[in-house]
This record gives sequence, C-alpha cells and structure tokens, in this order.
Amino acid sequence: MSNYHIKHLEEYYQVYRKSVREPENFWGEVAEEHFLWRKKWDNVLSWDFKKPEVKWFEGAQLNITENCIDRHLLTRGEKTAIIFEPNNPEEETEHITYNQLHQRVCQMANVLKDQGVKKGDRVCIYLPMIPELSIALLACARIGAIHSVVFAGFSSTALATRINDSDCKIVITADGSYRGSKTIDLKGIVDEGLVDCPGVKNVLVVKRTQAEINMKEGRDQWLQPLLDKAYLDCVPEIMNAEDPLFILYTSGSTGKPKGMVHTTAGYLVYTAYTFKNVFQYTENDVYWCTADIGWITGHSYIVYGPLANGATTLMFEGVPSYPDFGRFWEIVEKHKVNQFYTAPTAIRALAKQNISFAEEHDLSSLKVLGSVGEPINEEAWHWYNDIIGKKNSPIVDTWWQTETGGIMITPIPFVTPTKPTYATLPFIGIQPALMDDQGKELKGNQVEGRLCIKFPWPGMARTIWGNHDRYKDTYFSAYPNKYFSGDGALRDEVGYYRITGRVDDVIIVSGHNLGTAPIEDAINEHPAVAESAIVGFPHDIKGNALYGYVILKETGESRKHDNLRKEINQIITEHIGPIAKLDKIQFTSGLPKTRSGKIMRRILRKIASRDMNNLGDTSTLLNPEVVEDIKDNVL
Ligand code: WT7
Repeated sequence: MSNYHIKHLEEYYQVYRKSVREPENFWGEVAEEHFLWRKKWDNVLSWDFKKPEVKWFEGAQLNITENCIDRHLLTRGEKTAIIFEPNNPEEETEHITYNQLHQRVCQMANVLKDQGVKKGDRVCIYLPMIPELSIALLACARIGAIHSVVFAGFSSTALATRINDSDCKIVITADGSYRGSKTIDLKGIVDEGLVDCPGVKNVLVVKRTQAEINMKEGRDQWLQPLLDKAYLDCVPEIMNAEDPLFILYTSGSTGKPKGMVHTTAGYLVYTAYTFKNVFQYTENDVYWCTADIGWITGHSYIVYGPLANGATTLMFEGVPSYPDFGRFWEIVEKHKVNQFYTAPTAIRALAKQNISFAEEHDLSSLKVLGSVGEPINEEAWHWYNDIIGKKNSPIVDTWWQTETGGIMITPIPFVTPTKPTYATLPFIGIQPALMDDQGKELKGNQVEGRLCIKFPWPGMARTIWGNHDRYKDTYFSAYPNKYFSGDGALRDEVGYYRITGRVDDVIIVSGHNLGTAPIEDAINEHPAVAESAIVGFPHDIKGNALYGYVILKETGESRKHDNLRKEINQIITEHIGPIAKLDKIQFTSGLPKTRSGKIMRRILRKIASRDMNNLGDTSTLLNPEVVEDIKDNVL
C-alpha cells in the first residue's frame, strides 16, 4: 500500500482523513517507505503548541543529502539532476547528472571541512542563481553545517544583519552576478557588509563574471582552486532528525528579520511528499521553479523536494524580460518543461506583453502550472490558464510560507477541480482553522476569518534562531494552541479556501514579504525625517506597491521634495535592498494616531488606495484633523 502518490479525488479524501485521524501512522508510513534512514525513529511526533515544541521522527538518524543524491546513484546516476540555464541565452546550458552532483557536493563539503567548518556551524551563502548555490546548500547539509542563504538582491546592511544574527564565520559568495543586461558587483556588497561583521574570518568566492574584485588578504579565497584539490567523496555526517538543517530569514511586522529554523527529517519528508503530489511529478519530467533559492520556495521546491524525488530540476539565472519577454517560454520550449512554478507578479508582467511572446513558442510539454507568493488575481489566473496552459494544464495556486517549510493549501492537479483565485483544499495532513475577532473558531462553510493551523505538520519551522520567545509570541500567542499564519482567508460553500491577504503589518510586494517596521526604521535614519509610516496600495504588476507617509523635521517650503524622495529610497536600498523602495512618498505634517499613540494604518491604507469615502470613525483619533490634510495631499 502506498499513500505516496495521490491520483484521484476519492483517494485524496481517503488519505486526508487518515492523515488527520491517525497522523502518526500516516506520516510514519510515508517516512518508512520513501526515505533512507540510518536509524529509525522512536516516536513519530511529540508536540505542545503552548511551549511551543514540536518534534517529528525523534530518535531517527539520517543525512538529507543521502536522500537527495546518494540513494539515486544506482538507478539514476546518469540522469540529469540540475539543468542550469544561464542569464545569457548564448551561453551554454549545463546539465549536471546525479553522479556529477554527488561529486561536486562532496568536493564542496570537503572544502568547507578544510576551512574548519563543523557540524552545527552556520554558513552564510550569498550567491546568484548558479549551480554552486544549490551545491553549497547540499555541501553544508552533507557535513551537518547549518546554511543561511541570503537572497543576493539584499543590500550590504541586510546581509550584515543576517550574518551577525546567526553568527556565521564563513561566507560563500561570487565575484559578481548577472541579472538581465546588468552586472552586479556582488563581492563589493559583501565587502561593505563585512565591515560590520567582525566574526567572519573566511570568504570563499565563486568566479562568475570575471570582474576585477578586491580579495582581502587572509580572509578571501577563490573557491575553484580549493575545489580542484578537494577529495571526490565525503562521508555524510549522520544527523539527528531534529538537528537544524538551515536558517532562512523572513521579515516580520516589527523589528529585525526572523531567522526561521528548519530541521532535518520532517522538512525532508514534507518537501518531498508535497513536491511529488502537488506537481504530480513522474520519472522523466522536467520541472522548473522560477523562484530564487534565496527564498523558501527555492529551498523547498528547487533543491530539496525535487532532488529527494530524483527529479530533474531547472535553475534559471536570469530574469523573465531578458533578452526579451519571451525568455520564460523559450526556456519551456528548449527544455520541454513539464511542470512550471512561478509567481503572480511574473504572470502579470508577462500578461502585459504582446501575446506573440508566448505564442511563438511550443508550450505543449507543460502539464502543470503553479503559482505562489501572493493571491493570484482572476485576470492573471485566466491568462495563465488560457494562454500558457491552453486550458489543459491545471493551475495549482499554492499557499504556504517560509515558516511552513512546504505547501499547505493547494489543489492536487488532475485531482482537485480548480477555481480561479482559490488555493482550494488543505494538503494531506494539514488542519486549517478560521478564527473570528473574538478568538473563536468559525465552523462550517461560507465563513471568513484569520487563518490558523491546528495541528503540527512535519515541515513547520521549529523556532526563530536565538529567540524562541519571539517565535511563540508571533505564531502561537494570538490563538491558544494554534499556529497563526498572519493571513486572512475565507472558506466557500464547498470548503475551498481563498487567501485574502495579510492581516498584519507585512506587505507582499512582487511576492516579497516586507515588514513595515524595518523600512520605517531605515527612512527614519534620514537626518531630515522625524517620523514615517508605510502602507501597501494596489499595483497592476507588483500586486502591492509601497506608499510612504513622511513627517519632516522642518517643514520649510524651500525643501526640494523630489531630492528627499530620492535620498529616502537610497537609504532604503542601502538598508534593505531595491525591492523595498517606495513608489510614492507623501510628506505630511502628522499621522493619524490612536490615543495610545498607535498609528492607524487602516486609514492610511485606504487613503493610499484612494478609497476615501469609507474611512470609518476617525473621531476617536488623537488628531482627527490630520486625516483631512492627508486626504487633500494624496499622491
Ligand atoms: C506569505 C508568505 C511560500 C512561498 C513564498 C512566500 C503570501 C504565499 C500565497 C498564495 C495567497 C500567498 C501569504 C503568506 N502567499 N502564497 N498562493 N495565495 N497568498 O513566502 O515570503 O514567507 O510569504 O505570502 O500572505 O503569508 P513568504
């Protein structure tokens, strides 16, 4: 018997019921049948959401890279594990077989060992989308080091904050990176960041752009010569089920980024099992997820999930618009991609282009289309479905988060009937709950509330690095005994879920999760700024864009507002990265505040969205008069 690959709706319901009624038996069977264990577990699950503490497969021992690589070598050694498609279409594609991947991961693991990296040490990886990035993750996992990937679009300050938070002693980076027609001085950003990271003793540099860079004596080394000398095999470190595998930072509504900690066994089982079912992957398929490995989507569904299934996973270095807006479709045609997983912001940008970009290419290989990162609007859904999928390829609108490790609410293609803008049904093992304002669970269908999860799943993050209290406060305090996602959702008449968006101060811009507080902190560093507030407003392509309300210290008419706007965005770029830049900046004399001094963002959001008729009761504000002023000067 196997619950591993679901193929019919009745099977879904049957397996779902089992996963909820007997979660330990269910996950125990999945784990037993489909993975390689050095030692079996003593206990499938122990949990307490009050502490919170969750342990899956306690007592088990394994190495995730044996599951993702070694165990495939006998049957799939010459199969392509990774297809690397470079930024420049003229440059040659690389096909890395499982045998080659094994060797390259082992060599990189040996280099890390030679550099003194040990089990449990944190390794910061700041690389573009090149094969070395996937290999670096796996090399860390091979020796039990904890990887902390920082998206290579983040600024030097953001990089430094993340390096220091988890106390990384070593950074793996590249001389530069390509993004469309641009070349980015990645190493320069690292050098700048490391000024504030006295703990980093060691920087390994991949050669990618051949740019002239500065190599700091005693700290920086080129990676390739070290790899060339490294031994071709590396005995995997045997890890406990709950040993940390990686840290990945996500923004919160307040304060510094949260280093979500994912552990080994549960993450492996969950990402592998979701990958298999959500994409209906079969042996000779070519699968492509366009995300960057700097985000959780790339960790779970470019690297670990696909490789655990012995899949062929495509990595693309570039952007959808280079050399033109046909690039994605050219790649689909060239590699006969079967499963394609992207974000609504990319779909919207591509849908705006001339239809010939898509129609020029043979997209008939496509079987499943995926969407992730933010709610997909109806128009984008239909374009994706009609123009790309030719109404033949089901769209899986997958809801999940950095914190959940893997996909949580999603259709299973060819199994669950899809419905535009609905993530549809909970994945196997997932028990969602919608909560009302009073903290009561909303039972039955046709209800709308805050989305929680009532029961642990193997892929969930276990803590925030160095701050378990914050983990508890953020996710387990709003509703006792439940994980709170921060999202709102509704459940329709047949029990399908539709995600309605964040209910906290996190704004999703082009699928990137941005907290308001860190952006406001950055703006407030500008010497002319007294106070600021950021809200989101609807944007055609990005989904949401950022609108900033800024109070200046002196309000002289003579100030050059446009210059200030540039400087403010410059500071944001330095502190966080270009993704957090504000589209609109309104200078104002005040911000609407409650009597306890809290900014009423609800009002600011409505004004920024030009939804001014219905601002609600403003009479309880400390300073109701400022609302009129802000309305009059809206941009
Ligand atoms: C937030 C998590 C997990 C992959 C990428 C984002 C939003 C994600 C969907 C979807 C509606 C979605 C939620 C969530 N989100 N997928 N299919 N429909 N909203 O990971 O950066 O941790 O962001 O992205 O608001 O809470 P992340």
